[in-house]
Amino acid sequence: MPKLGLNVDHVATLRQARGGMEPDPVTAAAIGELAGAAGITIHLREDRRHIQDRDLELLRRTVKTSLNLEMAATGEMVAIACRVRPEQCTLVPEKRQELTTEGGLDVITSLPAVSAAVQALQQAGIVVSLFIDPNPDQLKAAAQTGADAVELHTGAYAEATGQADRERELAALRDAVTLGNNLGMTVHAGHGLNYINVAPVAVIPGIREFNIGHSIIARAILVGLDRAVREMVALLRQ
Ligand code: PXP
Repeated sequence: MPKLGLNVDHVATLRQARGGMEPDPVTAAAIGELAGAAGITIHLREDRRHIQDRDLELLRRTVKTSLNLEMAATGEMVAIACRVRPEQCTLVPEKRQELTTEGGLDVITSLPAVSAAVQALQQAGIVVSLFIDPNPDQLKAAAQTGADAVELHTGAYAEATGQADRERELAALRDAVTLGNNLGMTVHAGHGLNYINVAPVAVIPGIREFNIGHSIIARAILVGLDRAVREMVALLRQ
């Protein structure tokens, strides 16, 4: 049964809109865990636009399930992760101007830098996952870095319009899960998944973890976080 990693970045985005204390992603994480999330995911961006260093420090001390830190493969971030030691780090590409992580990491062209980051994090006892597009060459490069896992970018599937496009993107995800597992890596998935489009991906055998943020926090504003998390956990279990 796949696990839900609840991404609480958007709680921090709302807090940063006023620069105050509320709402607190640390409280959201605790409510999410109580509602059935098997992990908490945060992205500490270079520009600190939502999650702050204080959030990472507090979540490290309070998360009872598993903390997944999304980060760029930079020296600053690797040093922070090695000091704070979340259970897992997911390496993502990062551009200052983007609204959210736009594409997967290009592991092929950045093999030495990504491999060095993977090694440093693993030496600190951290499980390392690489956020990549469902592309066979990226998967093979990811395996070469020694990463423990890959997170398949589901954005192209989520944005596909029409049945044929959606089926094509689903097939790419299915093939990527099989290849990732055959290469000895754990497979996760995420980005753009919501209550309507998650089911066809959730039934693909071999995906261990789904990292979902925007749709859950958006629903939480209307129905409450406890209910929003429970409803997503139920969809992943079906
Ligand atoms: N996985 C990764 C690597 C991400 O960067 C993001 C977005 O922060 C997500 C999952 C969650 O995406 P969404 O907010 O669209 O559910």
